[in-house]
Amino acid sequence: LPVSIYADSEEASASVAAQIADLIRERAAEGQPCVLGLATGSSPTRVYEELVRLHREDGLSFQNVVSFNLDEYYPMAPGSLQSYVRFMREYLFDHIDIRPENVHIPDGTVPKEQINEYCRRYEEQIKEAGGIDLQLLGIGRTGHIGFNEPGSGPASRTRLITLDHVTRTDAASDFYGEENVPRRALTMGVGTILEARKIVLMAWGEGKAAVVKRMVEGEVTDSVPATYLQSHPDVQVVLDEAAGADLTP
Ligand code: F6R
Repeated sequence: LPVSIYADSEEASASVAAQIADLIRERAAEGQPCVLGLATGSSPTRVYEELVRLHREDGLSFQNVVSFNLDEYYPMAPGSLQSYVRFMREYLFDHIDIRPENVHIPDGTVPKEQINEYCRRYEEQIKEAGGIDLQLLGIGRTGHIGFNEPGSGPASRTRLITLDHVTRTDAASDFYGEENVPRRALTMGVGTILEARKIVLMAWGEGKAAVVKRMVEGEVTDSVPATYLQSHPDVQVVLDEAAGADLTP
């Protein structure tokens, strides 16, 4: 996997944001939509802040952008403090000119009996939009991408999953205690993610160093779903020095 290591996450995020801005403008110049796959969590926040700055100060327009978020807790009300709908509004959507009808985030309120149909429809909407041009990813300490926990295979699609214990521990502070973290989530599948034309995975800090090493250098296995990225033709792994510290030089 091609790896770029930056001095810090700020510099790395500015470079990722610039790449996204270029792609949006390139598509706009062709009169085409730009379809972005978006992640939440701490890894992409600086990228979103930089995209907001480019919108405000550099005239970057998101009028031609269509977005699909990777995942959402289940169940989850969109107005909840921890919802990914709220996260995306706070960091990005409330501050740019994206058309509300072009935003897609898995709906944590879908009734149980409609989930399969809802997930099938989410996949269909991605296809109808022309597929994802650029997918942003973080990586969990379990090796998850999206919420594809260990055991998720390369053909997995958008579905309801059970969160790993480690993932719920990592989310505990956001929910004021692990017992409040939802046990399940809706997520795009590994197969859905692998269909994106370009993938940019970001990881910061020493807490990610071990899983980054397994993703980049380890054998491809569903015990570390992020290893399936090794089979994708256009992935860029963007790290700060701490997250890249365990890699073989
Ligand atoms: C979030 C997502 C997750 C996170 C991962 C890392 O939409 O899909 O895979 O990217 O859990 O989270 P952070 O960035 O908070 O370390």
